[in-house]
Amino acid sequence: MCGIIGCVGRGEQTLQTLVHGLEKLEYRGYDSAGVGLGSERLSVSKTAGEIDALSQKLSEQNLSGTVGIGHTRWSTHGPPTDANAHPHQGCTGRVAVVHNGIIENYQELREELTARGHSFSSDTDTEVVPHLIEEALEEGAEPEAAFRSAISQIEGSYAIGALIEGVEALFAARNDSPLVIGIGLTPDGDQDASLRDGPFFIASDVPAFRDFTANVVYLDDGEFARLDGGVHITDRNGTPVEKSIETIEWDAEETGKSGYDHYMLKEIHEQPRALRQCLSGRIDELGGNVDIGAVGELSPTGVQFVACGTSYHAALYGAQLFRQAGVPAQAFLASEYASSPPPVGNDLIVGITQSGETADTLSALREAANRGAETLAVTNTVGSTAARECDHTLYIRSGPEIGVAATKTFAGQLAALNLFSLATAEGSTARREVVPSLRDLAGDIQHILDDSQARAVADAYADSDAYFFIGRRYQFPVALEGALKLKEISYEHAEGFAAGELKHGPLALVTANTPVFATVIGDGEVAQKTVGNIKEVEARDAPVVAVTDGKSDAGMYADHVLEVPETHPRAAALLANVQLQLVAYHIANDLGRPIDKPRNLAKSVTVE
Ligand code: F6R
Repeated sequence: MCGIIGCVGRGEQTLQTLVHGLEKLEYRGYDSAGVGLGSERLSVSKTAGEIDALSQKLSEQNLSGTVGIGHTRWSTHGPPTDANAHPHQGCTGRVAVVHNGIIENYQELREELTARGHSFSSDTDTEVVPHLIEEALEEGAEPEAAFRSAISQIEGSYAIGALIEGVEALFAARNDSPLVIGIGLTPDGDQDASLRDGPFFIASDVPAFRDFTANVVYLDDGEFARLDGGVHITDRNGTPVEKSIETIEWDAEETGKSGYDHYMLKEIHEQPRALRQCLSGRIDELGGNVDIGAVGELSPTGVQFVACGTSYHAALYGAQLFRQAGVPAQAFLASEYASSPPPVGNDLIVGITQSGETADTLSALREAANRGAETLAVTNTVGSTAARECDHTLYIRSGPEIGVAATKTFAGQLAALNLFSLATAEGSTARREVVPSLRDLAGDIQHILDDSQARAVADAYADSDAYFFIGRRYQFPVALEGALKLKEISYEHAEGFAAGELKHGPLALVTANTPVFATVIGDGEVAQKTVGNIKEVEARDAPVVAVTDGKSDAGMYADHVLEVPETHPRAAALLANVQLQLVAYHIANDLGRPIDKPRNLAKSVTVE
């Protein structure tokens, strides 16, 4: 989704800081980019395409200024063209605005502005904002009042940054769309001095300015900020709001590629560390105790999970854990939840969202909260909207994830869901059985990363017609996830199925050129049934890749085997998933796809 960066107090480095911030936001997905620089004079440069194209354009121009805004746009209203790229300006060019979100009443505002003589140069909803600011300025309003007047007229979701010619300040506002303020450090690290002098930043996400500061303030819905020689935050009525400065715990290096060709590969390899962080201090060595703080004190009598995409697969897994423990639990696609809301009763509503900003998930959580439900966010992002709006939060502690495809955060979600169910719904027997396998996860995954044959499998099948993934029970969400990962980064057709469903339709698609990836763990009834499904596809000449701990005879019927260490079936889901992540990565790499930035996709999906 769109990315915003803005800064003041970086002097001659302003333009460079903005472009650097935009590069750090690339992971969110975008199709055009632009910057605006101001103070005495205001100038804007923007273009369809990637940041390289913007940099090329900037090298041919002479933009300067000591306060600035930048934007990466992911098209919603209007195609990715130069004109639709942000920043947007009004009729006079005195105002420049970047926006993330959707202005729902833009059509009527646009008609009213047009009737009053304004002419528009883009198809976007955003463009009404600079025209409204301009109009207020022309009526004699002071810059900040003009900004506030414009914002008071728009409805919908927005994170907005604005510049006004002749003013050495950055104006910002948020509603339902993330916006964080960075408080820079002076060279000697004096926070009090930096609060007076800056530099100050606004951004959709911390990586945009993490190279310059770890001190952040999260804006809440309805709040405004003016950044100049200080940071001034006010509510809708203009009353100053006291905010606490929080410190980001990860460092800027974590947002680099550390020698890997892609962020996705780096993040797959970071899973052992991410899981150690997730579990640290939360399980004891002997396996008897799980401590997740106040969240562990909950005792839900029913759980409804709401989530999207990969997080929905984690939700399917989480619901199984609770049902297994005798607690009724269901996973819902967040985008469908509000249109057919189930009774909430006394159920706990759990939103699983790595970003904490997914509009569909937030809307499902709000819908349930409005009906009186207690809510919990399972998220990676401290200070995110989900974390702030829910009654409780369980952090997965995966560290920053930049690749659009979720990898280490999915592992973190599954691990955190185990902690959650063990702490709130399961007894000491389950804890003694499962906790040791959670403790071994990091080592087991490292073993897979060191020895995986996934690359050879990928090379063997990179030109197939389609790819199918099957699994039962805990391995069913893994099958769905394996298919999603492959389709989103390789653009190949991939589908995941509950193994038992194959014969109810999908089997018609199976041919000698459609490899089937089957995850088979243990040797119990569930495993044997999946082995039966392997035989069904083998009989139709489909190549089979078994992802297995070798306890069943699945390997005998497979063309290739991807091994996982023996462990509890719940933990094995995470291990099998790592093999499938690697297969997806190598197929996409063989096909030369832009793995970290798949076409049309965004990391943080802030529109419904
Ligand atoms: C797939 C992927 C998406 C997200 C989905 C929800 O790799 O990343 O399917 O899982 O957009 O995002 P969050 O977890 O941020 O709510």
